[in-house]
Amino acid sequence: MFYSKLIRPVLFRLDAEKAHDITIKILSKGILNPLIKSFCGQVSHMPLKVGKLNFRNPLGLAAGFDKNSVALRSWDAMGFGFAEVGTVTPLPQEGNPRPRIFRITDHYAVINRLGFNNCGADQFEKNLRKQKEKLSKNFIVGVNLGKNKHTELDDAYHDYRFTFEKCFEDADYFTINVSSPNTEGLRQLQQKKYLNEILKSLQDLNTELDEKFSEKKKDIFLKISPDLTLAELDDVIDVCIDNKLTGIIATNTTVSRNTLPEGSYEQGGLSGKPLREISNALIKHVVKLSEGKLIVIACGGVFSYDDFKEKIDLGASLVQIYTGLIYEGPCLPKKIIRKYHESLYKDK
Ligand SMILES: Cc1cc2nc3c(=O)[nH]c(=O)nc-3n(C[C@H](O)[C@H](O)[C@H](O)COP(=O)(O)O)c2cc1C
Repeated sequence: MFYSKLIRPVLFRLDAEKAHDITIKILSKGILNPLIKSFCGQVSHMPLKVGKLNFRNPLGLAAGFDKNSVALRSWDAMGFGFAEVGTVTPLPQEGNPRPRIFRITDHYAVINRLGFNNCGADQFEKNLRKQKEKLSKNFIVGVNLGKNKHTELDDAYHDYRFTFEKCFEDADYFTINVSSPNTEGLRQLQQKKYLNEILKSLQDLNTELDEKFSEKKKDIFLKISPDLTLAELDDVIDVCIDNKLTGIIATNTTVSRNTLPEGSYEQGGLSGKPLREISNALIKHVVKLSEGKLIVIACGGVFSYDDFKEKIDLGASLVQIYTGLIYEGPCLPKKIIRKYHESLYKDK
């Protein structure tokens, strides 16, 4: 109520990226955390083990909100069980020209074509290390990896390896992002030959680093596009299983506009309510085709407890949100988890 009546109208009067930058700046300082904690209520604990990790609850922040890993304490204060930071690339990059984030408020959606703007792996790792010291013990941090714009597809695995190694000690899990529509050619990395090379090379490195550090091998997830055909999805799942990935994050944004009324829309990836059904259809297929061999983290169009529960009922172990947070505000995570907690308790 407070957010939708007072804060959202102010933020929505600003350009979408400007509003985002201001939000991140404030959240990175942590000054609102006492307010968030007292206003949105307690963090609900409902521990669950997914892969090798123990989560305090199954709701997480999706990648792209905190690209440079600067506001982890605030995601922790909001009651998320985990946050995925990045996408980070080896070298810093500016991304595409502005404007590049657009709200479609009538449809509770966003279109973005940011193009992996981020501070680069060196600075990212410093930010991550600094933030991690101050987090709740049971708060999980995933690192989402991408390739630089000018890296050829054949060399992409070097980019993923570079940042994987750099962040190995501080990441709890890694996500390989081959599904953003805003880096030319990136989604081709979902093809068997590229994907196999990237995942095999990362798992080899994972084993090497496990031996070198006292750290354990890390869980690796693949984040996929909702625009894959069923045949393509089949291949992707085979490659993930062959390479012993922990699971799949379904999904990234879509280039489809089929779930919006006819009209002319900006180019880029669509997220929010119009993505929900598209993403759910893919989640269903991933759950079915992977026959329990891959864990599913669901993402796309979660704005409420019902949207969250729908994804859990489809077979997801964890759920992430991005656009819902823009429209519903910082109390959304605690609202969802509180209700989930109550529903489980009631069913007992
Ligand atoms: C502005 C914006 C930037 C994003 N940046 C990234 C990113 O850097 N890496 C990534 O894997 N996903 C990125 N995403 C996709 C989200 O993580 C998520 O997969 C997608 O938005 C669907 O979830 P939602 O409907 O809850 O927003 C971005 C989404 C938005 C709206």
